[in-house]
Amino acid sequence: MSEDKKLIEFQKVNKTYFLGTQKIEALKDIDLTINNQDFIAIIGPSGSGKSSMLNLVSFIDEPSEGKILYGDINVENLKDKDIAQFRSNKIGIIFQNFNLIPVFSATENVALALQIQNGNNKENIEKSKELLNELGLGNHLNHRPNYLSGGQKQRVAIARALITNPEIIIADEPTSALDSKTGIEIIDLMKKINETKKTTFIFSTHDPRIINQVEKTIELIDGQIKK
Ligand SMILES: Nc1ncnc2c1ncn2[C@@H]1O[C@H](COP(=O)(O)OP(=O)(O)OP(=O)(O)O)[C@@H](O)[C@H]1O
Ligand SMILES: [Mg+2]
Repeated sequence: MSEDKKLIEFQKVNKTYFLGTQKIEALKDIDLTINNQDFIAIIGPSGSGKSSMLNLVSFIDEPSEGKILYGDINVENLKDKDIAQFRSNKIGIIFQNFNLIPVFSATENVALALQIQNGNNKENIEKSKELLNELGLGNHLNHRPNYLSGGQKQRVAIARALITNPEIIIADEPTSALDSKTGIEIIDLMKKINETKKTTFIFSTHDPRIINQVEKTIELIDGQIKK
């Protein structure tokens, strides 16, 4: 289903953390290609390196060794300012605990992402409302996060990630704060966006019911991809 155009490539990537004198090899010798319009679930036990890997895919963190290419760009070589711009244009992130701003309405939470990308345009609010409508939140545009269910909050967070029209959306356990049924609805919504808007997705999950629905999974064990 996915077009085989390479979006992100890991070449022999290692990620090592140091805790005092203790050395933790969180990712070892990772080779990975993410193609355009992929829909990838990263699975594996706690501590296997899922978050470490996603933090590299989103360029929140840097590899200790090896190279990560985005198209032809070696992001490591960009200046800090350019990395920020690059991330804001290309990447959307969805968090486990939604990370919405509590004093902002659903619409304002989404519009803020546009404002960060493009400045304060008067269309920001209108565009945000349109997208929230599309994602089934038309009756909750003015609600603050506290007045939304977990599934509704995650829909707002998806809208916020999507509004800037990113090439890839990255999500670390986007369903773990939700009950299993709502979690599956959120994954279904992500899949629908993947198919209709051609956005690439990579996310981690523990939920076996979700794993069964995803064609392409990457299993990590002790920081290595299971072959
Ligand atoms: N900032 C850090 N400093 C030191 N060690 C870390 C750090 N982040 C992660 N680790 C270690 O790296 C390894 C991989 O952790 P990671 O968080 O990537 O696993 P995970 O698969 O996301 O686990 P979980 O399912 O519990 O979220 C673990 O041994 C963890 O303790
Ligand atoms: Mg994790």
